[in-house]
Amino acid sequence: MSVLIKNGHIFTAVDNYLADILVDEGKVRTIGIDLTADAEKTIDATGKYVIPGGIDPHTHLDFPFGGTVSSDDFSTGTIAAAVGGTTSIVDFVVQQRGQALTEALEIWHQKAEGRAAIDYGFHMIVQDLPDHRLSEMDEMVRQGVTSFKMFMAYRGAVMVDDDTIFKAMVRASDNGALICLHAEHGHMIDVLVQQALAQGNTAPRFHASTRPPVTEAEATHRAIRMAEIAGAPVYFVHLSCTEALEQVQAARSRQNYVYAETCPHYLTLDDSMYDQEGFEGAKYVLTPPLRNKGHQDELWKGLRRNDLQVVSTDHCAFRFGDQKTLGLNDFSKIPNGGPGIENRLSLLYTHGVDSGLMDLNRMVELFSTNPAKLFGLFPRKGTIAVGSDADIVVFDPDAETVISAQTHHMNVDYNLYEGMRVKGVPETVIVNGRVLVEDGQPAGIPAGGRFLRRSTQ
Ligand code: URP
Ligand code: ZN
Ligand code: ZN
Ligand code: ZN
Repeated sequence: MSVLIKNGHIFTAVDNYLADILVDEGKVRTIGIDLTADAEKTIDATGKYVIPGGIDPHTHLDFPFGGTVSSDDFSTGTIAAAVGGTTSIVDFVVQQRGQALTEALEIWHQKAEGRAAIDYGFHMIVQDLPDHRLSEMDEMVRQGVTSFKMFMAYRGAVMVDDDTIFKAMVRASDNGALICLHAEHGHMIDVLVQQALAQGNTAPRFHASTRPPVTEAEATHRAIRMAEIAGAPVYFVHLSCTEALEQVQAARSRQNYVYAETCPHYLTLDDSMYDQEGFEGAKYVLTPPLRNKGHQDELWKGLRRNDLQVVSTDHCAFRFGDQKTLGLNDFSKIPNGGPGIENRLSLLYTHGVDSGLMDLNRMVELFSTNPAKLFGLFPRKGTIAVGSDADIVVFDPDAETVISAQTHHMNVDYNLYEGMRVKGVPETVIVNGRVLVEDGQPAGIPAGGRFLRRSTQ
């Protein structure tokens, strides 16, 4: 299908100009002034921003975690992503202990194939890395899975020890992969959680008090030093607090290859959410926890200074009605995670651009270009350029909506941002030249998402 987008205001990470875009056979074919073409579809983008489709490098669809499985699968989750202006995700495969990486990857291919509405790549969560499996990491890289994630927390579940992390880093320094870390001091947190429970402190808010910022900062620091010795780049997922940001900033000023993302919930919500009546706080039991308001300003500054390079969602939805309730009498049994795959662009635009904290170029960089570059998808993804995949968002900066679970497309019965008024709506969303979203709603076309074989940086 060919699509002609007329009179839009194009923003990439560096560009800012008015032009038409002709899309054909899934690619951007021509960008120019007053283009005339016999396109099958013409979109009038007068007064609208035309930006590259978003890349969300941190999602958990159909993800087994905390004794249940996340409620959005590759079908519902990717449709919701598209409605929110995201046209590619990088989701997480989990290697079980004793399992070959190729076997784990195959399971995730089956979860996604034929269901995903948008393009998808995979990171590999590694739990078990005896020496004979190190070469499997190289095989993953050959198959386009060029990043590995390890958890420094969730003791008794997916947490790994420092020797595993260090071995993986050494291997990555050789095969070019990027090591991603969930950085929290798992041992210390485990003791704090057991102490809280022993004192009868079982409510959701104790999820936050047992994971203080220093536990994140300590693990961030430790991983940075390990990466330094291994000579490998490292990427911190869901960085949430000032103390961890300071570690990243210090490492970057030493010229280390250290990268980090934060998420919209850390930028816009705070730990007062845990003080709500009854079990409501469980909706916000995600990890790291929401911090006090003081951290938000620092995270926004981190985005401006480029100490933080990416805003991802860490979308990991669990229903309030029958999944979060697993921890009704014990906060440590509440499945950790929150929804957000659909809300990233509007939140970034409203709280970042419209409130004057960043310009549109920077927003595009955080939302699309940097994740594409860091995770081996650029310039096929992450920009609007001749020859790039036609992943394009026509964004109406003046439209306003109120976020609500009543109207969202995520398969979950609540929204972290319920009632929040946001400015800017992805009106039309094109993925590989196919119009997936029209007037802000799914156009109902069959799933056509493809697996993305990513390269190393
Ligand atoms: O609470 C969260 N973030 N759940 C998903 C798993 C993870 O730690 O990213
Ligand atoms: Zn340990
Ligand atoms: Zn995590
Ligand atoms: Zn996550």
